[in-house]
Amino acid sequence: MESLKATNQYNELVEDSRLIYDSLGNLNKCFLGKKILITGAAGFLGSQFAFYFKYLNETLNKTDKVKIYLWDNYIRGFPDWMNEFIPLQHFTIEKKDIIKDSSFPEVEYIIHAASIASPIYYRKYPLETIFSNITGIKNILDYSVDNNKIKSILFFSTSEIYGDPDPSNIPTKETYRGNVSCTGPRACYDESKRVGETICVNYHKVHKVPVKIARPFNNYGPGLNINDGRVIPDFFKNILENKDIQIYSDGTLQILSSNLVAKFNVNFTELFPVSLTTLEFDATDTDIEYFTADVTFKYTMYDITDISNNAL
Ligand SMILES: NC(=O)c1ccc[n+]([C@@H]2O[C@H](COP(=O)([O-])OP(=O)(O)OC[C@H]3O[C@@H](n4cnc5c(N)ncnc54)[C@H](O)[C@@H]3O)[C@@H](O)[C@H]2O)c1
Repeated sequence: MESLKATNQYNELVEDSRLIYDSLGNLNKCFLGKKILITGAAGFLGSQFAFYFKYLNETLNKTDKVKIYLWDNYIRGFPDWMNEFIPLQHFTIEKKDIIKDSSFPEVEYIIHAASIASPIYYRKYPLETIFSNITGIKNILDYSVDNNKIKSILFFSTSEIYGDPDPSNIPTKETYRGNVSCTGPRACYDESKRVGETICVNYHKVHKVPVKIARPFNNYGPGLNINDGRVIPDFFKNILENKDIQIYSDGTLQILSSNLVAKFNVNFTELFPVSLTTLEFDATDTDIEYFTADVTFKYTMYDITDISNNAL
């Protein structure tokens, strides 16, 4: 069997990690000597973070290494790349279900990427999907209340919280409140992400928990399962099978975000090290810093620069 290290996928993961590292510059220092928990670490986005931290550790001296906890319940399987982390001294890999497990290690950063995201699989596992986004984030936030070690929590929401915007709201602004069915086939995903966001905002209001929300659109890159059932892998699958690309609409309202891997990486690294003390949730909804893949790209970048000057 071909070793993972010999594959393009592996090389791309390493190359993307280098791009992230380069684009972060001084911000890489935020993580020196820190402990980080990634939930959903075996997934497409979680593993991107894990590879970045692996790369970062390779650049650091012994005393500055980052300690990483990778949690996943492997409901979507155990991908090859997880084997990369098993022998690494600063990585701890544990089979944990974020719905049931709230025995958290002592960490400063938590990235909550555990949730089924594929329409095929969230229809198959609707309850698991719902509670990863509700109980899962609640467990994390409860752990963080009055825990002054916690510097930042990232909740992965989704662009699907906008539902099916009417044509006048396309392209969709992040202030748009959404048009979502609470009982339809996608509701387990869309609505649990919406409640997840509400939970985050209110833990911040009540307990000042340093939580942030990202709403990715359709990202793609190495590690995204070709049989995932999301639109981009479906397109690639059509191409690889020499079939026409299939669009389930007349194509006039395509709002598909065209994020490339590098762009995605820049986005996620920019949003992650923002100092949370600067977030203001009290005035209006628009004060909340939501990060979407395309819409707030520049806005986010400026924030980070400002904040990092104070925070580092
Ligand atoms: N990739 C995208 O374009 C995209 C777009 C919008 C939102 N998101 C969100 O980002 C996050 C990560 O997405 P992804 O693309 O990496 O998905 P993914 O399906 O590749 O990975 C999700 C991982 O979470 C794990 N998981 C699911 N439920 C769990 C639980 N209860 N406890 C522990 N682990 C659990 C799965 O086993 C899987 O490894 C999700 O919250 C998703 O909704 C992603």
